[in-house]
Amino acid sequence: MIRKNFVYVEDISQYDGKEVSIAGWVYNKRSSGKIWFLLLRDGTGIIQCVVSKKDVPEEVFELEKTLTQESSVIVKGLVHADHRAPGGYELWVRHIEPVHIAQEYPITPKEHGVDFLMDHRHLWLRSTKQHAILRVRHAVVRAIRDFFDNNGFTLIDSPIFTPSACEGTTTLFETDYFGGKAYLTQSGQLYVEAAAMAFGKVYCFGPTFRAEKSKTRRHLTEFWMVEPEVAYADLDDNMDLAEEFLEYVVQRVIREKEKELQVLERDLTMLEKVKRPFPRITYDEAVEILKKNQVAFEYGDDFGGTDETVISSAFDKPVMVHRYPAEVKAFYMKRDPQDPSKALCVDVLAPEGYGEVIGGGQREDDYDTLLQRIREHGLPEDAFQWYLDLRRYGSVPHSGFGLGIERTVAWICGLKHIRETIPFPRTIYRLYP
Ligand code: 4AD
Ligand code: MG
Repeated sequence: MIRKNFVYVEDISQYDGKEVSIAGWVYNKRSSGKIWFLLLRDGTGIIQCVVSKKDVPEEVFELEKTLTQESSVIVKGLVHADHRAPGGYELWVRHIEPVHIAQEYPITPKEHGVDFLMDHRHLWLRSTKQHAILRVRHAVVRAIRDFFDNNGFTLIDSPIFTPSACEGTTTLFETDYFGGKAYLTQSGQLYVEAAAMAFGKVYCFGPTFRAEKSKTRRHLTEFWMVEPEVAYADLDDNMDLAEEFLEYVVQRVIREKEKELQVLERDLTMLEKVKRPFPRITYDEAVEILKKNQVAFEYGDDFGGTDETVISSAFDKPVMVHRYPAEVKAFYMKRDPQDPSKALCVDVLAPEGYGEVIGGGQREDDYDTLLQRIREHGLPEDAFQWYLDLRRYGSVPHSGFGLGIERTVAWICGLKHIRETIPFPRTIYRLYP
C-alpha cells in the first residue's frame, strides 16, 4: 500500500461496491442538468465520476462551475461496475475536495503545433497519447533489463565524462573539466569491453550524447542506449544475441502494453512477425537491393535513412546487414580476415522504415592493429592507453552492440519522429523545458 487514504484507478476493479477516495486531476467534465460527469485522471488511468444533485451537498454540486481542466481534486464515492463506462467502472460521487484550482490550461482538446506542445512538454506528458508512449518506453526498458539479467549478464555502469571519442570526433560535446577537457560519452562500449574481460558478459545502460547537427526524425543529442559486450564471442554469436534479444523485447512489450498500443492505434501485424531467425545480408547484398530499386547510391558509402528504408522494405522482419566497408565504420572494428576492406560489423534495420535500431560488431583484439587504427583516426594515443591495455593483458575475441531506446520505442509505438519517445527530448534546437 503506497498511500493509506487513496486508491488508484488501475486497481478500481478490486473495490466494486465499496466507497473509496481517488486523488487526481480534472481531465474533462460535461453536464446534463441534475447530473454532471467528471473525468478524473490519476496517472494510472481515467475514471468517470458521476455527480448527482441528490447525492451530494449543494456546494459540491456547484463545483461543476469552478473546477477547471487540470484542477487537482480528491473525489470520494461508490465504485460501480458499468460496462458502458470507459474502463468498465464509474464512481458515484459522495464528496469532492478541491486541492488546487488550475489556471486556464494551455493545452486544450484543439489541435496544437508540435513546437507549442514541445514548449509545454512538462504539461503535455499528462495527455493520453504521451502517457501511452512513455508507458511503452518503461516496458521496453524493463524487458531489456530482464533479458540481460535473466541471461547472466552483469550490469556495469559506464562513465558520462570521458577523456576521448568512441564514435568519431565530429559529434563530441566538449566540457570544461577543472581547466582540462572532458567529453560527454557517445557510447559506453569501450568501458564494457574492459568489463567483459573481468565479468565475461556485461551490459551498460544509460544516457549517451552526440552533437548531431542534422535535424532528422531519428536523431536526438541525448539518447539512451543499452550495450551488451561478450568475451570470446564472434560476429555470428553477436548476431544470434541481437536477434534473440530483439525478439524478446518486442514480443514482451506488445503483450504487456496491449492497451497502450491500442491508444496509439498501432497495427501489431508487423511487430508480431519479429521472431527469429532474421534475414542476414552483407553490405554488398544490401547495395544490390538499392540498385534493384533504382536508388542512386555510391558503393562504399554508409547508408542514409532513405537507403535503410528501401533495404528494410525488402523484408517483413528486422534485417541484419553485416560487413560494411571498414572506412565508414569506427576505429575499433575488427576487419574481416576474408576481405580486410570490410569490418566485422552488423546493423539491425527495423521494418516499416524505422531504420537502424542496433549497431555493433566484433572488436579489434590485436594490439598492433588497434594502435595503428587509433593513429589512422587521429585519436589521442594517451587517452587510449587503458583501452590498449585490454590488448596487452589476455586479449580475446569479443563482440557487442548498442540498441537505441528511442528508435526502438518509436518503432514499437509506430511514431514518425523519435522526439515523443523520451520524456524531455534534447535536439539541436531544444534544451527547454
Ligand atoms: O551505431 P551506434 O553509433 O553504435 C555505437 O555507439 C556502438 N558503440 C555500440 C556498441 O557496439 N556497443 O549507435 C547504436 C544505436 C543506433 O543503432 C541507434 O539505435 C542509436 O544507438 N543512436 C541514436 N539514437 C538517437 N539519436 C541519435 N543521435 C543516435 N545515434 C545512435
Ligand atoms: Mg550505427
